Amino acid sequence: QKLLLQLLICLFVLRVCSVLGHVTYSVPEEMTIGSLVGNIAPDLDLDVQRLKSGKARTYGTEYVELNKERGVLVIKERIDREALCGQTTPCALDFQIILENPMQFYSITVEITDINDNAPSFKKPEIKFDMSETAQVGSKYVLEKAVDEDVGLNGLQSYSLSVNDNFDLNPYTIGSRSNVEMVLKKPLDREKQDRVFLVLTAMDGGNPQRSGTIQIVVTVLDANDNAPVCSQTEYKMDVNEIAMKGTILATISASDADEGPHGYIQYSITNIPKGAMDLFEIDRDSGEFRLLGQLDYEKFPRYEMDILASDVGGNTDVCKVIIDVLDINDNPPTINIMSVSSIISEDVKVGTVLSMINVQDPDSNENGKVHCTLDQHNYFKITSTSKHFFTLVTDSELDREDMSHYNITVTCSDEGVPSLSSSVTLTLKISDVNDNAPVFERSSYEAYIVENNAPGLSIFTVKATDADWNQNARVSYILEDSSVNGVPVSSYVSVSADSGVIHAVRSFDYEQIKDFQFRIKVQDGGSPPLSSNVTVKMLIQDQNDNPPQVLYPVQTGGSVVAEMVPRSADVGYLVTKVVAVDVDSGQNAWLSYKLQKATDRALFEVGSQNGEIRTIRQVTDKDAVKQRLTVIVEDNGQPSRSATVIVNVAVADSFPEVLSEFTDYPHDKEYNDNLTFYLVLALAVVSFLFITCLVVIISVKIYRWRQSRILYHSNLPVIPYYPPRYSDTLGTGTLPHVYNYEVCRTTDSRKSDNKFGGAGGQNVLIMDPSSTGTMQRIQSEKTHIDFKRSSAPWIAPELL
Ligand SMILES: *[C@@H]1O[C@H](CO)[C@@H](O)[C@H](O)[C@H]1NC(C)=O
Ligand SMILES: *[C@@H]1O[C@H](CO)[C@@H](O)[C@H](O)[C@H]1NC(C)=O
Repeated sequence: QKLLLQLLICLFVLRVCSVLGHVTYSVPEEMTIGSLVGNIAPDLDLDVQRLKSGKARTYGTEYVELNKERGVLVIKERIDREALCGQTTPCALDFQIILENPMQFYSITVEITDINDNAPSFKKPEIKFDMSETAQVGSKYVLEKAVDEDVGLNGLQSYSLSVNDNFDLNPYTIGSRSNVEMVLKKPLDREKQDRVFLVLTAMDGGNPQRSGTIQIVVTVLDANDNAPVCSQTEYKMDVNEIAMKGTILATISASDADEGPHGYIQYSITNIPKGAMDLFEIDRDSGEFRLLGQLDYEKFPRYEMDILASDVGGNTDVCKVIIDVLDINDNPPTINIMSVSSIISEDVKVGTVLSMINVQDPDSNENGKVHCTLDQHNYFKITSTSKHFFTLVTDSELDREDMSHYNITVTCSDEGVPSLSSSVTLTLKISDVNDNAPVFERSSYEAYIVENNAPGLSIFTVKATDADWNQNARVSYILEDSSVNGVPVSSYVSVSADSGVIHAVRSFDYEQIKDFQFRIKVQDGGSPPLSSNVTVKMLIQDQNDNPPQVLYPVQTGGSVVAEMVPRSADVGYLVTKVVAVDVDSGQNAWLSYKLQKATDRALFEVGSQNGEIRTIRQVTDKDAVKQRLTVIVEDNGQPSRSATVIVNVAVADSFPEVLSEFTDYPHDKEYNDNLTFYLVLALAVVSFLFITCLVVIISVKIYRWRQSRILYHSNLPVIPYYPPRYSDTLGTGTLPHVYNYEVCRTTDSRKSDNKFGGAGGQNVLIMDPSSTGTMQRIQSEKTHIDFKRSSAPWIAPELL
């Protein structure tokens, strides 16, 4: 304004005064003081004298002064265009040079040209931004503009931003009203770089170029943009199943790149298997992972769960925890009997299954591998069919008779160290099969029985045993059918089925049967029954129950039989031979003969062994015709039995002589040494009997026609039969001794054999006074047969 004012004054003056010229100069600003602006003298056409004389001076400026000596304008004061004109262009100094004498003035214009003396500059040294790291790409941030006093090219021309990854400057045109902006081109990451330092440079276009800078500090604010990260994605641990409660199994750690609460991690268990809820815990803050309960490999061999690591912002990471429980051999095998037969038959095949066994061992590997053994390994074995199943089978043939039951102990042990085992005992009964036949105690039996036993007498006992059991061992004895002499053996003996006692069914008679055999079968009660048999030989022992039987001379009772000895007979003449037999045997049948009584002992002798009666001296005429010898025949039994025979000898040369002698010869029964006594006694008896007999004889005679007289004479051992009433014909009325014996038999059966009368002979005279004296020699076949068919005790049919 001041300038403008001066200019206006000058214009006014120029009208009044003379404006003698106008000169324009151009100088750059900031010239040093004294620097030349222009040679004013020549330019105004003035010489230096005039300047001096005219006292030339500048008017209207303090920056330029006139050097009158040299006639030049020089810089008087520093000229700052920016101060002088600001942004105005062009910038000029208008002033006058005034001269006196004459007064003249000249207008001078000094144009001040800009020099790049000002750099662009910012008001503040730095700009601060707080930016969230989550800031979006494209976000704009207005920056401060720079100021450059210079003008034109020397003024602000452009901005630039220091090289960085995240920001760019928006294009900016000088002169526009728009802002200087930077744009986020790449997201920030606090975790990488929490502060970004940038320099914004403002540049002018001068030469040399000047620039100004401002620091931009971007503080990246944390956002919870980072999740926690587990230090291991998987925590694997092997834990002994007997680990104590409270054991720290692991410390889980996770890191979070965020800071502050965004980076504060808390831990929790998640995805835990149901059964493991109360088994584990994790410390929220420290991440210590602890065992809370008791592990059991057998229930849960492995646990898998996740640990959740979360920051406050809710970001999480999950790390896996795998716990392998290590097995300890803490379980013995358990044996389960699935099925068992407690009784088996002794005839089962080898390999028969007795029991199915299931063995479980919850432990693993070696600790759970089980093998089973038996104590009765000779008879049974245990085989494994599949992993946990075993079968118990027979391994040999069984024999109940050897072993009727077994206690089989099955022991199963695992292979752990130390091994655990358990065992179970099965009791197996062996049932009987009828596989054993009864066996007699002896291979054959010989039994003795003395004859004349009582029927029903128990003779002896056979015994058989059967190794089987119960019914299979119940033996019964059976007499096997056979016949002895054509008669079933059952009529001889019987066997008690239960006891094996053999009974005699009848009374045996050694003289009929000496021995016989039969078989006894023993049979058990099995089905089918088994049996065996044994031979029993029965030997009947002799008893001296038979007296000798005199076969000759025939004792005819009433008849008188006599041997004839001629008077001319020499010494040693064989008169006759007493023939006797004894149906007993052995000693009981060993007979000896003795002369018991004789009319003349000196005349005869009896051969003790052979019974021959011989004369021992010459017969003389003095010898009586009638000689009577009583010979006693004795056997050698204990006690011995004897028989006597009366031998009548007629010492005569002719038959009539004999007859006359013998007709009144009394028949005497017994002789004794005391002959006289017996004669008297005999006389009395005979007299009595004679009268009795007379009565009897009359009646007997009536039936005589049907009576037969049987004489039987045969070779040994056929026993003659002498009918009991044969002697009833005795004329003397004496009862024959045979008959007496029969009567007695009812009380003493031993004497029953005496029914056999001595009979038979050769060259025998039978004289029967009561009859016509016929001599009879009869052989009876019939008697013979009767005897053989009879059974003991034999009873003469006539007596029954
Ligand atoms: C089997 O066991 C039972 C009872 O424990 C016992 O009485 C019997 O004698 C045992 N048998 C054998 C052959 O050991
Ligand atoms: C008796 O036993 C033998 C073998 O000891 C046998 O050969 C025979 O057949 C048996 N007899 C009977 C009748 O059973």
